[in-house]
Amino acid sequence: MSTDVPGMSLPSGATMPRIGQGTWYLGEDPARRAGELAALRLGLDLGLTMIDTAEMYGGGAAELLVAEAIAGRRDDVFLVDKVLPGNASRKGTIRACHRSLQRLGTDRIDLYLLHWRGGYALWETVDAFTELVDAGDIGAWGVSNFDGSDLEELAAVAGGGAWATDQILYNPARRGPEYDLLARCRRRGVPVTAYSPFDQGRLLSDPTIGEAAARHQATPAQVVLAWVLRQEGVAVLARATDAAHVRDNAAAVDLRLTDADLAAIDAAFPAPAGPTPLETV
Ligand SMILES: NC(=O)c1ccc[n+]([C@@H]2O[C@H](COP(=O)([O-])OP(=O)(O)OC[C@H]3O[C@@H](n4cnc5c(N)ncnc54)[C@H](OP(=O)(O)O)[C@@H]3O)[C@@H](O)[C@H]2O)c1
Repeated sequence: MSTDVPGMSLPSGATMPRIGQGTWYLGEDPARRAGELAALRLGLDLGLTMIDTAEMYGGGAAELLVAEAIAGRRDDVFLVDKVLPGNASRKGTIRACHRSLQRLGTDRIDLYLLHWRGGYALWETVDAFTELVDAGDIGAWGVSNFDGSDLEELAAVAGGGAWATDQILYNPARRGPEYDLLARCRRRGVPVTAYSPFDQGRLLSDPTIGEAAARHQATPAQVVLAWVLRQEGVAVLARATDAAHVRDNAAAVDLRLTDADLAAIDAAFPAPAGPTPLETV
């Protein structure tokens, strides 16, 4: 049965689902490939229609896996991809996008991000993103791992105000963005996308998270996803290759944490008391 995953409006008017499937480390091991493909397809069946990938993941291997997962159902999918900073020059970004489109077996990426800030001037990447939007190769563009000062610099570049998301590390153990970054994006009407919600699995054995899960007859993963999604204007990406995990994650949209759950999580993982540099993995 498919879950009714809520969506958020991007400045372009497109709708981005609030929960998506991550693909870091996927497609790299032939022995695991069939299981990974089945997990992504199951996620799509269950309503997890946002898939996040990057040219970096397995040097294109994740994009090739995604191509297979979305074959025949491209119109049902919200596809997010990322250009490596080392490719993000004016011409390099266009070439990288076209290579990704070819690997993905599609004619458009819904949201194309600069994976993190690198050596090229931001105007070069923004100019290329704008051209890709005009050509219909991408629906919208955004950034990843940008802190507040990076976003200010971006906004000062011609066309730089059109960014559609900042994809960042955010979970109960990495709450720095709550001090300022989340509010900054919300004020601009731009969704934040939280990656590594489980801190790559580490958070799922935390006792406080486990106790909240037990109170709701839910799983620790569902508690963490519900905790991230309690914030208005935030979407989340979870990577799962186990079918039971995919089912858990899809069902997390129905979980509402109580004030007592949130207070217990606050006590175990305090909110930032001051400016905190953005963390990355
Ligand atoms: N922009 C960036 O710089 C950036 C950086 C990091 C990540 N990302 C994106 O965000 C995605 C998610 O982050 P991540 O891959 O770092 O890690 P993550 O989603 O925090 O954690 C993945 C781990 O959690 C496990 N898991 C997933 N659902 C579970 C469940 N319901 N119950 C128990 N365990 C569960 C997975 O196990 P199984 O595989 O066994 O199911 C896997 O070991 C990435 O795949 C990528 O697309 C972006």
